[in-house]
Amino acid sequence: MNTNETGTTSRREFLRNGGGVAALSALGGIELPTAHVQGSDLIQVAIVGCGGRGSGAAVQALNTQSGPIKLIAMADAYADRLNGSFNSISKEAGAKVDVPESRRFVGFDAYRKAMDCLKPGDVVILTTPPAFRWVHFQYAIEKKLHVFMEKPITVDGPTSKRMLTLAADSVAKNLKVGVGLMSRHARPLQQLHDRVRSGELGEILLMRGYRMHGPGGYFESPAKPADISDLDYQVRRFHSFLWASGGNFSDFYIHVIDHCCWMKDAWPVKAQALGGRHYKNCPNGAPAVDQNFDTYSVEYTFADGTKFLFDGRCMNGAQVIYSSYLHGTKGLAIASRANDCGGPSAIYRGQNADPANLQWQSTDRSNPYQNEWDALIEAIRKDKPYNEAKRGIEASLVTSMGRMAAHTGQEITYDQILNSDHEFAPGLDKLTSETPAPLQPGPDGRYPTPKPGIVIAREF
Ligand SMILES: NC(=O)c1ccc[n+]([C@@H]2O[C@H](COP(=O)([O-])OP(=O)(O)OC[C@H]3O[C@@H](n4cnc5c(N)ncnc54)[C@H](O)[C@@H]3O)[C@@H](O)[C@H]2O)c1
Repeated sequence: MNTNETGTTSRREFLRNGGGVAALSALGGIELPTAHVQGSDLIQVAIVGCGGRGSGAAVQALNTQSGPIKLIAMADAYADRLNGSFNSISKEAGAKVDVPESRRFVGFDAYRKAMDCLKPGDVVILTTPPAFRWVHFQYAIEKKLHVFMEKPITVDGPTSKRMLTLAADSVAKNLKVGVGLMSRHARPLQQLHDRVRSGELGEILLMRGYRMHGPGGYFESPAKPADISDLDYQVRRFHSFLWASGGNFSDFYIHVIDHCCWMKDAWPVKAQALGGRHYKNCPNGAPAVDQNFDTYSVEYTFADGTKFLFDGRCMNGAQVIYSSYLHGTKGLAIASRANDCGGPSAIYRGQNADPANLQWQSTDRSNPYQNEWDALIEAIRKDKPYNEAKRGIEASLVTSMGRMAAHTGQEITYDQILNSDHEFAPGLDKLTSETPAPLQPGPDGRYPTPKPGIVIAREF
């Protein structure tokens, strides 16, 4: 350790040497050093998980206008995914992409190599399937990186607890963390939230949320072909497997669940639910081997007794409803008119969405995916408090609570899901391509599905 002329270590040197941080804060509440980027500094970005969303998030990061920003490293489990993403981001953001072959990393340990290319105060985008989020978030915190991570950020109780500890650590280290629950950055929903807070809707008595459409993403999976390992099959088709994604329930339904709970400014304390697998085959007739139900219906209850009803369905040919509603003592609000947070949001007098009774309607059409990036990068440049990790974990947990209620056929409380000891895929921090898949199929090639009323302590 360096010392100055008087034989004492200067504060700057002490901090630079790193080991003194804990000792300094123990001595008298001295703040931990921030990984702070000055306003005009170059912010370097890396992506971990170069699929559809990772590529989109990278372009939005590079589109922020508050100062210089570059993508400098990419990591993916698979080369084909990484290459496709590199090409599409390069097309959209050309000069801001500086990722030579030497900074493109492939494999389950690629995340470390990509983050090792960054300096403290840079940003990493975590957009793999959510099962890996805690592993990657933990390393990002170790490297003092600001983080953008996609929802859901946990899929079960044990990893939620682990992530809550990591979230607190990220706050203590003054890291800025954005979570891809972009409803929170949709101006129509922000305006509606303000109006609900100011009493325009009266007391909220009931909320309703729906996401019902045909099968999307990897909602269902046919039997695994022989030329791919079980692990790769499950990682690539993550919506089909509860350990990887929380299933289509967590992956698809979290947005509507999150923004309805936000309107109430509370998380529900319990859920009871139902759901089932009506069809056993994929639309092409092949047997479906995934773990998802094709219908879900959840009744969430808040501490004051208020109910939030959520219906989810992935089924061709059935009615499509994808929107959310708040019923208050003074009127009705449409939160999302279409999709996860599509405007215009509106308030009506009475309980019908009758145009004659329209009281307010939003007009903003800005892109919430860009808004969330503008806010994160501004917070980094201006060193403003900004950390969405805790509420992202809570939203993920509340979503898991509804899913577990449907999968077990039992009432599940918030405390039960938080304290559940069923970690769906232990040891993901040590995963290699040789590790056996977290889920094994039966002799018929089908993976275990939930059995409500029969398997009740765990989901599968
Ligand atoms: N906020 C939104 O509206 C929104 C929209 C789409 C997806 N998402 C979320 O983004 C995440 C990714 O979804 P997607 O649609 O982009 O899926 P995707 O399959 O297109 O991309 C995931 C990528 O992660 C890679 N990957 C998997 N495991 C990895 C690992 N351990 N290390 C490195 N790379 C790994 C895959 O190879 C793939 O390229 C999910 O959590 C999803 O819920 C959010």
